[in-house]
Order: sequence, then structure tokens, then C-alpha cells
Amino acid sequence: MIFKVLLPAANILQLDFVSAACSEFLQKQLNASNCLGIRAFADLHNCTELLSSSEALIKKQFLEVVKNDEFLSLSSDDVVKIISCNDLAVPYEEKVFESVIKWVKQDLDQRKDVFSELMEHVRLPIIASRPDILLNIVNEPLLKDNLKCNGYVSEAFHFNLRKSFQYFTIPQTIRCKPRQFGDSQKVILMFNLYGTSPKCYTEWYDPVTKLRKKAPGINDCRKFAGLCVLRDQFVFAVGGVNGLCSQSVSMLDVSSQSPSWVPMANMVVKRLQLGVGVLDDCIYAVGGGVLHNELSSVEVFDVSIQKWRLVASMSIKRCNVGIGVLNNLLYAVTYNIIYLF
Ligand SMILES: *[C@@H]1O[C@H](CO)[C@@H](O)[C@H](O)[C@H]1NC(C)=O
Ligand SMILES: *[C@@H]1O[C@H](CO)[C@@H](O)[C@H](O)[C@H]1NC(C)=O
Repeated sequence: MIFKVLLPAANILQLDFVSAACSEFLQKQLNASNCLGIRAFADLHNCTELLSSSEALIKKQFLEVVKNDEFLSLSSDDVVKIISCNDLAVPYEEKVFESVIKWVKQDLDQRKDVFSELMEHVRLPIIASRPDILLNIVNEPLLKDNLKCNGYVSEAFHFNLRKSFQYFTIPQTIRCKPRQFGDSQKVILMFNLYGTSPKCYTEWYDPVTKLRKKAPGINDCRKFAGLCVLRDQFVFAVGGVNGLCSQSVSMLDVSSQSPSWVPMANMVVKRLQLGVGVLDDCIYAVGGGVLHNELSSVEVFDVSIQKWRLVASMSIKRCNVGIGVLNNLLYAVTYNIIYLF
């Protein structure tokens, strides 16, 4: 590449516009098969922007990048630098393990001594939730022969055994933390409706790893409760306890270190099969009740004073309500039940 000559010359001569043009050109060329080389080049010639965009691409296209010979000729420090990134885009952690093995085996004699240093950054505990995959990995001779790596393997097995009953309290190393990339920071809280009385079990679901994990349960069965999320952080379960009408409200702060459901102020009216919606930082509990005894009343939870108060009722009674928010308006929708005899 002519640029490999031109850029250093431009730097020496302090021809800023030439080096800017070189950087810009390389920036456009960046792809999974050349980004490691361009990264090294940008690093050598102090091209900050080019450096950061090549590093971003390496993380984003890691699975493609490791297929290239460029990867196999990296130094161990460079490999560590990449695989220690928390936002490395790998849906499956075993891909990191495989890339480490491939890199080491490229020059076994020289590289086997740094193997455990690399394994320090492979998040085996994350793989442990799929035991068949972990068992495959554990059979790798390089791991078996290495004392420090044996430690990482047993950490992974222990983590998996303990997390089912004390997920949020086990001491966590960086290896126990799922990588977070793209939009994967979000988890969905799922409630199972049936067969859980008298408790309500909840789960975290990670759409990227497709793994489900136990989340804090509620002590009441929340069948027919209304659910909503406030400020992307607080999950509310409103009314409907054990299939009966209830005024009670529970809240889970998902940002807390060890989240658990806490009771909040009761609603004014007992409700089940209600609709719940969030508008302007307030929670609305709408209608509810049982067939032939439906409610038209609506109440709102004002977060600043942590109290419920009744607001204008709906014109008709509704239970099994669906709530939608559009253009700062709250809509309550119900379906008509048709009876056939
Ligand atoms: C990446 O870009 C280079 C030019 O820098 C090109 O030769 C190569 O074919 C490209 N590779 C892919 C996979 O697009
Ligand atoms: C890059 O920057 C460092 C310090 O900021 C300097 O010592 C070095 O000479 C620079 N390299 C080039 C190629 O400009």
C-alpha cells in the first residue's frame, strides 16, 4: 500500500492534510479482513480516529476477524486487549475460547506459556449454563494440563451450581459477567401465569444469549395482576393476588445490586384483570374486576408522593383491559365476549 509510505512521510513533514487524507482513505477501506492491520498501522502513526474506528470494527465483527490470518499473527498482548473487552460482540462465549485455542496452536511451543493469561479473559462461567458445551471445552488437552486453567474450569462449574439458588449474591469475577454489546443490555422479565400458586416466579431472559435465569419471585401469586415498567427500571405488579381482587402493589428495582420485590402503597380500589399503563411518569390502573362486576374507575400512582388517587372514570365498565399509549394519550381497549349456546 502506497499509504504505508505516504502517511509516515506526511507525519514527518507535518503535512496534516496528507495524513488526514490517508486516514480517511483507510477508514473507507476498513473491513473484517483488514481491520487488525489497519489498527496496528493507525496505532503506529497516531491516527486516533482511524484507531478507534478499527477497534470498534474488530469488536463488532470479532467472529469474522478471527477467521483471518492477521489474527493468528497478533501478539498475546493484542489478543488479550481484544478478548478482555466487555462489549465484544460474541453471542456465544465458546467462540472466544475457540479463537484463543486457534491462536495458541498456531505456534504451540512459543505460545503455550501465555495460554493461562488468555484464559483469564474467557468467560467460562457464562458457558457453564450449557453443560454439554462446557464439557466439550474441558476435554481440551491444553486446559487439562494447566493448573491455573483448572481453576477457571472449577470456577465455571461452581458458578453454575450456585447460581440457580443464589444468583445475585455469589461473588462474581469478570468471567461471570455476560458481555454486553449492541442492544443486549436489556433483559425481559417474564411471569408464568399458571401452576405457581401461592408464589409468583419470575425470570430474566437475555435475547442475545437466549438464556433464561431465575429472577426474584413475588410472595403472592399475582394471577390477573397488571404489569408495567417505569423509567426502564422499576417493574410494578398491580392488584390481582391469588386470582382474587386485591389493592396491593409490589415493585422491583431491576437496577439494584440484589433486586427484590417490595410492597408499595395500596391502590384505592381492589382490582384484578385490570389494565396498567404508564404516562408522564405516572402509573394508571384502569378498570378490572370480574364478569358482571366490572369496574369503570381509574386511578393513578403519582411517583413523587407515592400515592394512588382516583381520576375520571371511563364511560363504560371494562375488565381484561389492554392499555396503549399514543401521542401522550392513554387508550383502554377491551374485547366483546360473545356467548354461544
Ligand atoms: C476488504 O478490503 C480490502 C481492501 O482494503 C479488499 O481487498 C478485500 O477484498 C476486502 N475484504 C472483504 C471481505 O470485503
Ligand atoms: C506518536 O505520538 C507519540 C507521543 O504522543 C510520539 O512519541 C511519536 O513519535 C508519535 N509517532 C508518530 C509516528 O508521529
